[in-house]
Amino acid sequence: MERSGTVSLGRSCRRRSLRSFSPHEPHHRALRWPRANLYQACVLASISGDLGAKVLHGGWDAFNYVDGFAGPWKVRDEEGCSDASFGVAVDLLETVREFVEPRRRGPRLKVRFYPCEKDPDAVARLRAYAQRKDHIEIHVFDGAFEDNLDQIALRIPNGFTFTFIDPTNWVVRIEEVCDFLKGRTGEFLFNFMTEEVSRHSVNPKVAHQFGDFVGDPNWEDTAKQLPAGLKGEIRVLHLLKNAFRS
Ligand SMILES: C[S@@+](CC[C@H](N)C(=O)[O-])C[C@H]1O[C@@H](n2cnc3c(N)ncnc32)[C@H](O)[C@@H]1O
Repeated sequence: MERSGTVSLGRSCRRRSLRSFSPHEPHHRALRWPRANLYQACVLASISGDLGAKVLHGGWDAFNYVDGFAGPWKVRDEEGCSDASFGVAVDLLETVREFVEPRRRGPRLKVRFYPCEKDPDAVARLRAYAQRKDHIEIHVFDGAFEDNLDQIALRIPNGFTFTFIDPTNWVVRIEEVCDFLKGRTGEFLFNFMTEEVSRHSVNPKVAHQFGDFVGDPNWEDTAKQLPAGLKGEIRVLHLLKNAFRS
């Protein structure tokens, strides 16, 4: 698995991921993955080897995993959700916690999981998942991520927060999400369909939604200031980076 620069492995389903260690000091990397192993790859790359261990071994007492568009979505393991992005993440974090705990001093390490989901069936499955994993602190949020941000923030008392933003499409109110990220200490991963977003940006019927997505109602003027000849998806990436930096 390549981890730096741009990886292009499939055309029809390309997504890009923006990853930043801190919303205050953005350090973005652009990655491309094939959809088949996208979720596992992103989450594994983000939190498995380095992030979870670094955080829990490095003086933090808690790792908060916020999954704003959690699913489960198109999973094979309907019951256990082991192939959902959150299933992979939660299992890995537990493994890291169990490994680190006996090897360090201090209070008991905490892993908290904050999934949010709009689809009622998926919410019901998240609740069933939470019941099965009753040894982990899980707070399930029902409804749009953007509408739940304040409630999620209230339930994060301390610790390092990793936020995964993985919308199905590009209808996201990014400014509100950015405010949430700025209020947390941690890292985020934003995963989206570059081609679809870029294609819709030129559709006047949904131009306002595109403004929400890049957090800039005047995005057309902003885009004019970018170097001429940039590919549509690169322009989207530039606009988004502005949103996360501001
Ligand atoms: C691409 S899927 C996420 C898949 C998930 N990462 C996984 O591996 O199972 C996006 C999910 O977000 C949900 N969704 C769409 N808009 C949402 C919103 N505004 N807030 C919360 N969830 C939303 C969809 O119902 C869908 O389950």
